[in-house]
Amino acid sequence: MKRFARSPLACAAACAALACAAGARTAAAASVRPRAASPAVRTALGRLWLGAAWYPEQWPESRWPKDLALMQAAGINVVRVGEFAWSTLEPHPGDYRFGWLARAIAEAARHHIHVVIGTPTDAPPVWLTSRYPQVLRVHADGRPAQHGNRRQFSYASPLYRKFCRAIVTRLAQRFGHNPDVIGWQIDNEYTSESYDAGTRRQFQSWLEHRFGTLAALNRDWTTAYWSQTYTAWNQIPLNALPGNPGLMLAHRQFVTATWLGFQRNQLQALRAHIAAWQFITTNIGGLGWSDNWDHYAITRPLDIAAWDDYVGEGQLSFYRNGAMSDFVRGWKRQDYWVMETQPGFVDWAPISNSLVKGAVRAMTWESIGHGADAVLFWQWRAALGGQEQYHGTLVGPDGKPEPLYTEVQRVGREFKRASAVIAGTTPHSQVALLVSYESRWAIDFQRQTRRYHQLRVLLDYYRPLENLTHSVDIVSTRAPLRRYEIVFAPSLNVISRSLARHLRAYVLGGGVLVLGPRSGMKDQYNRLNVERQPGPLVPLLGGRVQQYYALDAPVAVSGAVGRGTGGIWAEALSRHSPATRVLLRYGAGNAWLTGKPAAIEHRYGRGAIIYLGTILNRRLMHAFLARRLAAAGVRSPFGVLPRGIELMRRVGAGREVVIVINHGEAARTVRLPHEMHDVLHPGHLVRTLTLRTQGVAVLEHASPG
Ligand code: GAL
Repeated sequence: MKRFARSPLACAAACAALACAAGARTAAAASVRPRAASPAVRTALGRLWLGAAWYPEQWPESRWPKDLALMQAAGINVVRVGEFAWSTLEPHPGDYRFGWLARAIAEAARHHIHVVIGTPTDAPPVWLTSRYPQVLRVHADGRPAQHGNRRQFSYASPLYRKFCRAIVTRLAQRFGHNPDVIGWQIDNEYTSESYDAGTRRQFQSWLEHRFGTLAALNRDWTTAYWSQTYTAWNQIPLNALPGNPGLMLAHRQFVTATWLGFQRNQLQALRAHIAAWQFITTNIGGLGWSDNWDHYAITRPLDIAAWDDYVGEGQLSFYRNGAMSDFVRGWKRQDYWVMETQPGFVDWAPISNSLVKGAVRAMTWESIGHGADAVLFWQWRAALGGQEQYHGTLVGPDGKPEPLYTEVQRVGREFKRASAVIAGTTPHSQVALLVSYESRWAIDFQRQTRRYHQLRVLLDYYRPLENLTHSVDIVSTRAPLRRYEIVFAPSLNVISRSLARHLRAYVLGGGVLVLGPRSGMKDQYNRLNVERQPGPLVPLLGGRVQQYYALDAPVAVSGAVGRGTGGIWAEALSRHSPATRVLLRYGAGNAWLTGKPAAIEHRYGRGAIIYLGTILNRRLMHAFLARRLAAAGVRSPFGVLPRGIELMRRVGAGREVVIVINHGEAARTVRLPHEMHDVLHPGHLVRTLTLRTQGVAVLEHASPG
């Protein structure tokens, strides 16, 4: 992809920084040397991309040059096209009409805009669903889906997959070597599973394959309970209602396997025909973590991860969005794309208000700071008809720019300056938070208290960790952990024997593992662990959870790091090893808990395992985590920042790019540890940075030694 020229300005800044960084390559920088990237990954992650979803099929061709000229003037260099265009691409069975798409791609190229093609399989045409109604999805309550919306197909239907394969193959043959097409998005936001009879049969054979015998399934699901014992595979139900915890967990794993199969069908068709430098991804909804399936598993076979980042109602919560972004980066442990984001407002929130002026730019840079290399707005212009007329856009129904266009145009100018500097950098953290889908599902099936929101619990950890380190990884429990000084696992409900071995090896190898409440209660079949919590890690901890319950009111907690409260959930801990120390204790007020340990620690040389059995109030949590980080030797050279300031770090060979955003309502000043290059104002060096509300600075310096 030699055609991607580097901006000379940005190149100059990068070269200057590289020169001053000569010989200063730190151990940290050395350890982030990227894995050898494939040509496809290099295409996607080799520069900054600014883009929009564009639907040429909704407009006369005579309009395309105007839209593309406006895009070019905004600095847009990529469009995503085609993902709902099946009825235009194949108006009748086998009648493929790709000419318009070829012309749209060529017209985009004339404006120096590259293209990502979305496969159109999220919106089957009516000839398909009316001729073959058996491909329609069945809702959990048994109603079949109808034509007139999207996502009305059954993800497990072999017949539907056959049609998908045919059109994707044709598209790949036609555009798989088109130099202006840089990548492919499979389908659009895998969302709704199906409860049709065929899917139920597939679930039953999937279980047979997994368990081998009904005796094993009956044992592992404890089906003697309420006479659930199965004597034939075809008796096993498929429904979305609360049921046997083992069956519910298995169903989510089946949903993951089925989406993987749906994706594999298209992945194979694409891989067979496209060039090695075209990347393949899919866009994953971020709202509520759309977590009926495992995002780590789905993104594993793809070249890059991509997600759709919407705020919806209210304003940008930068910790939440930062955590979500770090979570997305963790899917493949590499930089990623924001395939969709809102141009100001959406049309589906309870109140579809607009983000404040400047926040779209700030949010774009926030994504880049957390490891995005592309941000695409959804959408360029609203179709005059169709379901999403009210959604935010960059161009109005008259084809003229919306007020937000100017803000995006500014980002376009900034991306041009920063692209070459940011290329080759990625966030690098010494601290990780662990996420496990099995645990998330298991807790959500049986919350025990409506106040236990796993995302909020995760943010209780994330906020202080981000404030204290300015770089947090959120990764799967299967990720290699050796590179982290300290790893936090709040809500790690399911701990199987193999996961316990992985975590144990980390601690014995010198790592510090901090488990949060509800950890290790269940095994991989969603059964209670007989050791009590944290299950197979009880011997390593030298202690366990003696008693747990949901709290209706906060309880006092104190220890060497200070005093405060625990809320929502409390676990009284006990110790059986004299080497296990108590870090926090519950105070008086709740007789079951009074005086009992709330947090304990067992050290192993430099390593340690810590169990924290409640949700601490903010101040005590900050102190508790600050102490853990200090003990693990983790600190940020940027110290404590003013409220509302977010600072993100991307490390490259011998250099670091620092993105600073003021999300607060008033101007703020940040004192930097030393002078840095101001990438957005080439030639300027900055030591003291003052940012207005929604202000953004992109700085570069030699990596701290
Ligand atoms: C996304 C979807 C887009 C569009 C957008 C509106 O979830 O992928 O097609 O509907 O929402 O916010």
